[in-house]
Amino acid sequence: MRIGFFDSGIGGITVLHQALRFLPNEDYLFYADTSHVPYGEKPKEEVREYILDAADFIAKQGVKALVIACNTATSIAAAELRQKYDFPIIGIEPAVKPAVQTWEQKRKKVLVLATSLTLREEKFNHLVKSLEHHDIVDSLPLPGLVSLAENFQFNKENVIPYLKEQLSSLDVNQYGTVVLGCTHFPFFTNHLKRLFPEDVDFISGSIGTAKNVRRILEARNQLEDGTGDIVYYQSGVRAKDQDTLAKYNRLLAMLDEL
Ligand code: SIN
Repeated sequence: MRIGFFDSGIGGITVLHQALRFLPNEDYLFYADTSHVPYGEKPKEEVREYILDAADFIAKQGVKALVIACNTATSIAAAELRQKYDFPIIGIEPAVKPAVQTWEQKRKKVLVLATSLTLREEKFNHLVKSLEHHDIVDSLPLPGLVSLAENFQFNKENVIPYLKEQLSSLDVNQYGTVVLGCTHFPFFTNHLKRLFPEDVDFISGSIGTAKNVRRILEARNQLEDGTGDIVYYQSGVRAKDQDTLAKYNRLLAMLDEL
């Protein structure tokens, strides 16, 4: 059986990319809710409905686990999906915990970049408050990066002016670690690096999530001998045309180079 991956759009590819590293002998189903992306600036109840519909569709295809490769969707619906399905639901959340631990060495603050919805959600605010050094965590929504990624605009001419404007009210020198709290953001790591001091670390939850998938499937004795085959769906429709498949392959190749 395949491992299901779900995201509002192409961001989940950054998590799938890590899964292919840690679990190369599995087969995958990747579902992007392209008709409804972006999630991060929409009302919570509307997004919840989209997620439930997508999960229902994916479950009907038959998967042995579902990775919610979207921070926004995880914060809104992971708990509900866990009640509903008997296969494991593995979410992703902003890697704030490891980021805050760097305070001991660096004595510098943490900046969390995510969607507005993720940053507003109780899950995120509860997570931050539970940490000892919660007062060193700042956050900034960057919805424009989701649109840029979905439109395949990764070149510096499009990205850098947007980032400069969004970061203009912050003193970037106060940060030691930047958390990429949206799965679309790792595509922009190199651009972000140019706008922060050299010693700033950029972390995302995708490696931890991929390792978590492996650990859970291992514990359930469900690792398989697949070939890394991926089938793609876009809002309930199988994506088979060469252009779309080439687009996903290009994204995976881009991540190889980061
Ligand atoms: C979005 O659809 O706004 C991005 C969702 C996410 O990865 O958090």
